[in-house]
Amino acid sequence: MSDDQYTIRPATPDDLDAVLALRREAEQWLADNGIRQWTADYDEYAVGVLTAWVEGGSAWVVEHDGQVVATASLNAEPDPDFWGWLQIAHEATALYLGKMIVRRDHAGLKLGDAIMNWACGRVKAAGRTWLRLDVRRDNRRLQHYYVSRGFRWMGTRVPLPPRVTESGWLGQRNGGQTTQCPITLIEIEPSPSARRARDPATSRRR
Ligand SMILES: CC(C)(COP(=O)(O)OP(=O)(O)OC[C@H]1O[C@@H](n2cnc3c(N)ncnc32)[C@H](O)[C@@H]1OP(=O)(O)O)[C@@H](O)C(=O)NCCC(=O)NCCS
Repeated sequence: MSDDQYTIRPATPDDLDAVLALRREAEQWLADNGIRQWTADYDEYAVGVLTAWVEGGSAWVVEHDGQVVATASLNAEPDPDFWGWLQIAHEATALYLGKMIVRRDHAGLKLGDAIMNWACGRVKAAGRTWLRLDVRRDNRRLQHYYVSRGFRWMGTRVPLPPRVTESGWLGQRNGGQTTQCPITLIEIEPSPSARRARDPATSRRR
């Protein structure tokens, strides 16, 4: 595989440290840039969610030159606090994108666009219609980022206690829609040994 190619594959438990490192680097970048998102009070929650998603098989990693340089999760089930107002039949017409992070030394290459284009392909392959996501309610800049990439605002929800979250701006993009991007992710399988390690029947790591 040539050095300029970017691949995407399901994350395995062996990738958890790399995924958490991406998260921590993003937290630092957000703080350095005065963006109130993924602040320290969410740390424990975030580690729990990322760990569950890696172990549950919904987290993906993007690799370049043998290194994990980005991650995102794609869930078939919606977060009911955000999408529960939709009828169940409509909830099931989408895949839900979350926790998208690009390593800072790869930022600006449109890897985010490439991940969203890949995710739209998965939406179509799953016979679904929409790619959906939620964004922090007060982060206009990030909302604009998604709107400029074809997402339509579907409403803003404030989950009821005990859930504490600043997220709730909801967007969706048609799975048939892609945006221009110099990078096309090549989807690959994890290696056979990683697949075995990921199989809950053969492994109970962490
Ligand atoms: C969003 C992200 C994956 C996009 O990666 P990318 O394709 O390499 O694109 P960039 O990093 O150049 O970001 C695109 C623009 O969005 C802005 N942006 C990225 N994350 C942002 C955030 N959380 N809040 C506000 N603006 C953000 C960038 O500053 C950049 O703005 P610019 O075009 O004016 O320079 C990456 O920026 C990232 O990891 N951000 C931090 C984590 C995050 O917020 N993820 C989304 C969670 S819903």
